[in-house]
Amino acid sequence: MDNTTDNAIKFTRGNPAVEALPIESLTECANSIFRQEGQVLFQYGHYSGYAPLRQWIADNFGAKYEQVLLGNSSMEFFTFIAQIMLEENDSVFLEYPSYDRAVTAMKRAGANVVGIPLEKDGVNIDELKRQLELHRPKLFYTVADFQNPTGVTTSLEKRKIIAELSKEYGFFIIEDAPYKALRYYGEDVTSYKELIPKQVFYIDSFSKTLSPGIRVGFLIGPEALMPKFHKWSEDTYIHPSLVTEGMVYEFCRRGLLQPNIEELKQLYRPRLDAILSALDTHLGGKADWTKPEGGFFVSLFLPENVDGKALQEHAKEYGFVVANGSGFFVDGKGDQFLRLPFCQMDPAETEEGVKRLAAAVTDFTR
Ligand SMILES: Cc1ncc(COP(=O)(O)O)c(C=O)c1O
Repeated sequence: MDNTTDNAIKFTRGNPAVEALPIESLTECANSIFRQEGQVLFQYGHYSGYAPLRQWIADNFGAKYEQVLLGNSSMEFFTFIAQIMLEENDSVFLEYPSYDRAVTAMKRAGANVVGIPLEKDGVNIDELKRQLELHRPKLFYTVADFQNPTGVTTSLEKRKIIAELSKEYGFFIIEDAPYKALRYYGEDVTSYKELIPKQVFYIDSFSKTLSPGIRVGFLIGPEALMPKFHKWSEDTYIHPSLVTEGMVYEFCRRGLLQPNIEELKQLYRPRLDAILSALDTHLGGKADWTKPEGGFFVSLFLPENVDGKALQEHAKEYGFVVANGSGFFVDGKGDQFLRLPFCQMDPAETEEGVKRLAAAVTDFTR
């Protein structure tokens, strides 16, 4: 192989495509809102975030104003929830595999983290029930729509069962939904937030629908618990960044968010088609991958006769790079797992990347 690291195709981070960032319109929104609201946005403000954006989110996500807390991206809410809701050695359930940074956040908080095997329509319910008898968790963390890292969407049937179990066993569901709006095929599935609002922390952000660099996220939580979270925000950083919240608000107020999401879908849909068809062409019969209807990721498990550890370690020699699979598994056993983000690459690059991956799979078959 003569592929060098420099031209390696990067199946590593799930970034939005740079050409999809609405830089011009965000700049216009910034100019306009800074002129009108500069004295508010550049001053200390309210610990729950910029009020007009909170109200916009409440109106558009079916929540009360008091339920909405803004934050500097959505990720920090993992730690807010862990710090407020957990005591030492409490159990947290999550999907196996799961978003690696959520695994880290829960482990850091000192939780006993239990992975529930993820199937193509959500976690295995029998195993969930079995583990519920053993651990009695406080929290169940899930990315129910187009999961990072697998691309799996939890079926409505399983959501209803899990919602019932959360009532019965008294655990809260953390519904992390950054990809929910990015559906390229099929119908939206009802969220946990709608099914069982009193038991759900709904986390979302503008990272995938607008821009990750602006770091604006939000939490919609059960009304009774939210005062603790607003206070936690104040005691953590006084308040999140009002400057970027103002920009996002202006973008939303002008009605630009939904058209932007539609444009993203137009861009990403053919990229999803491209990766699925490249996998068919180059890896058909050699591996089994997910077939998501949206989001950023397709994933696959390499068959046992492929040395997945060696393949991941030597990927660069074949001209591609992948995220280390083990971070997605609570027990670190991710050697056979590959996450393939597809939104950042044009179809030709994807095709080439999958071709290189297939060459490595052939070489590492024992
Ligand atoms: C499932 C999931 N949750 C949270 C995040 C973090 O997003 P944010 O940019 O809002 O912090 C990501 C980012 O990739 C993600 O995939």
